[in-house]
Amino acid sequence: MRKKIIAGNWKMNMTPSEAVALVNELKPLVACEDADVVFCVPAIDIIPAVEAAKGSNIEIGAENMYFEEKGAYTGEISPNMLVDAGVKYVIIGHSERREYFAETDETVNKKVLKAFEHNMIPIICCGESLKQREQGITIDWIRQQIKIAFLNVTADQAKTAVIAYEPIWAIGTGKVATTEQAQEVCAAIRCCIGEIYDEATAEAIRIQYGGSVSASSAPELFSQPDIDGGLVGGASLKPDFGKIVNWH
Ligand code: PGA
Repeated sequence: MRKKIIAGNWKMNMTPSEAVALVNELKPLVACEDADVVFCVPAIDIIPAVEAAKGSNIEIGAENMYFEEKGAYTGEISPNMLVDAGVKYVIIGHSERREYFAETDETVNKKVLKAFEHNMIPIICCGESLKQREQGITIDWIRQQIKIAFLNVTADQAKTAVIAYEPIWAIGTGKVATTEQAQEVCAAIRCCIGEIYDEATAEAIRIQYGGSVSASSAPELFSQPDIDGGLVGGASLKPDFGKIVNWH
């Protein structure tokens, strides 16, 4: 039985002092034993958020990371910096990073390998555009993203990974994928992992749905056999996140 994982993606929101206030506000609301709860926060909020989350079930994650260890990469954050700050999860390849910051499937793969090397769990994002969905190539597209993201990743590493399926047209739009659409793609991702590795790896890996998840849509989505939780943007900044975590 896979444990659900519900992660907030704060994106570029919350100053350090606002982050502390939000963690303190949500702490009692997201208390939950049967799901992993992660707040992925802006880099500058990581240290105060880790401090504020102490003693709670909240793990603090990062929203991005660079794939080199150190050096002349102005403005980037290294894996060691994240680990030293107390980070266990890192979002890799969010569609906003792909769209605005030139992330490719290849850089995603490099970052995924680095995250594992440093014992962090990557939350690997994939998802199709509206055009791709209308062209009928959603599953082909997602399979390609997954196959490249997992190049040179071992089965033991893959078993611990988290994949977030986020249709781009559903992110921040209030337009949630239907339960059937979300389940169909998450099942296809699990099948793809089974082809790359084996049945045991496919059964172990956790696959989230993301894209306008709310307290009202979460219960049906999270009840699907291949949906192991959610990656939540807008609603993770509100008390509603407590309802999403405690969806059942
Ligand atoms: P949203 O964002 O919940 O605001 O649609 C999800 C995400 O981008 O991870």
